[in-house]
Amino acid sequence: MAEPSSFDVVVLGGGSGGYAAAFRAAELGRNVALVEKDKVGGTCLHYGCIPTKALLHAAEVADLARHSEQFGVKSTFEGVDVTAVNAYKDGIVSRLHKGLQGLVKANKVTLIEGAGRLAGPNAVDVDGTRYAAEHVILATGSRARSLPGVEIDGHKVISSYEALTLDRIPASVVVLGGGVIGVEFASVWRSFGSEVTIVEALPRLLPVEEEASSKAVQRAFRKRGIDVKTGARFSGVEHTDAGVSVTLESGEKIDAELLLVAVGRGPVTEDLGYAESGVELDSGGFVVTDERLRTSVSGTYAVGDIVAGLQLAHRGFAHGIFVAEDIAGLAPVPVQDAGIPRVTYSDPEVASVGLTEAQATERLGAEKVQTLEYNLAGNGKSQILGTQGFVKLVREKGGAVLGVHMVGARVGELISEAQLICAWEALPDEVAQLIHAHPTQSEALGEAHLALAGKPLHVHG
Ligand code: NAI
Repeated sequence: MAEPSSFDVVVLGGGSGGYAAAFRAAELGRNVALVEKDKVGGTCLHYGCIPTKALLHAAEVADLARHSEQFGVKSTFEGVDVTAVNAYKDGIVSRLHKGLQGLVKANKVTLIEGAGRLAGPNAVDVDGTRYAAEHVILATGSRARSLPGVEIDGHKVISSYEALTLDRIPASVVVLGGGVIGVEFASVWRSFGSEVTIVEALPRLLPVEEEASSKAVQRAFRKRGIDVKTGARFSGVEHTDAGVSVTLESGEKIDAELLLVAVGRGPVTEDLGYAESGVELDSGGFVVTDERLRTSVSGTYAVGDIVAGLQLAHRGFAHGIFVAEDIAGLAPVPVQDAGIPRVTYSDPEVASVGLTEAQATERLGAEKVQTLEYNLAGNGKSQILGTQGFVKLVREKGGAVLGVHMVGARVGELISEAQLICAWEALPDEVAQLIHAHPTQSEALGEAHLALAGKPLHVHG
């Protein structure tokens, strides 16, 4: 083993959590190395958030073309050119990747290309070279999980990874798992013209979201011709000449060209020297950390999807910034999952922050919880866009807003105001004083708070 090169900080993994940590540490004057075996940007940029949202946008455009007469515009929808859609998607990823590579250089972060391995406290090995570090930040992310007996072969049984690079529109797909990935891909494929069946074991799609949001998505999906099977337990899958035959515990069989497995993602923490170096892992393989994201090994931190909790890129960014500032002694405020906004970019979109009604009821008791649902039917801009949905507020009676849940086109863009409202524990009276531009969808948030403050404008009662 060669003499170790030495850094203040070595970050293992260049995804959202890892590169955020590296950039912030470098900004704070640290000598930083970022180890990446594939491409800086990680899952989110190359195989997750960004390419899926490009597909979802293409899907929205397809639906607009299909239904343009609704707005008085005549057009003929001639179909989706998958090669061109992929070129559009890949172009975006490639531009963002180039930008990120530029930022690595601009921040004077040393990029070490190769597969890294933790080699005890303060050391990382990459392809036979040892790098010493005062602090090591583990940021190796997550990968698709499967079910026992279900092999993701990448052809007939696929994960979101293969789903993103399909060179065709499948005639039919079974989507196993009605969480975020399942719902987003079901939405894309239906807009592209596939026959889609979702199989979700729990009683509703997006089971972690507000019940009203799940119901609205289910209703909209069924209207769009997606076969939504909830409370449906998967039993097995067999390959057929035409694709797959999926069997449910009820005995029902569903034939399709493809099976997308979207039953969650697990942490990438095996065979990386973590356990051998003394990093404690929980029974699910996640790295155990304290509130400051310190692992059981001194000087070693963990960020992003390898830390149990919400697996979201923006949580990874927040973790990375937090750890870099903690190392620099800036005493940053720890990241709490509770305040992190969530968006599912399907048609319709779902956005939420804070507690659901059920969570608030469990915490405070039903008598202390008040909710208000504002229907987007009363919101001018939503009507112009032709979308349906709602804004639902959950508050402690007489107190602050604890949760905001929204369904409808583009509601994801409203989530930052909702987050401010929850994070600052704003009272409905205070939010009701904010003036929202008219006509915008953001008015729906304002109107909901006006109603909660007892002075509704475009809603009665
Ligand atoms: P998920 O945990 O969101 O959903 C998995 C779903 O599969 C659950 O609803 C679960 O009940 C269901 N399931 C599990 N076993 C099943 C079985 N045997 N039969 C039928 N259904 C079963 O996981 P998902 O959708 O794979 O996403 C992984 C992670 O990636 C999530 O944490 C998600 O937050 C993140 N992600 C976030 C996105 C966003 O923010 N827009 C987009 C895509 C992924």
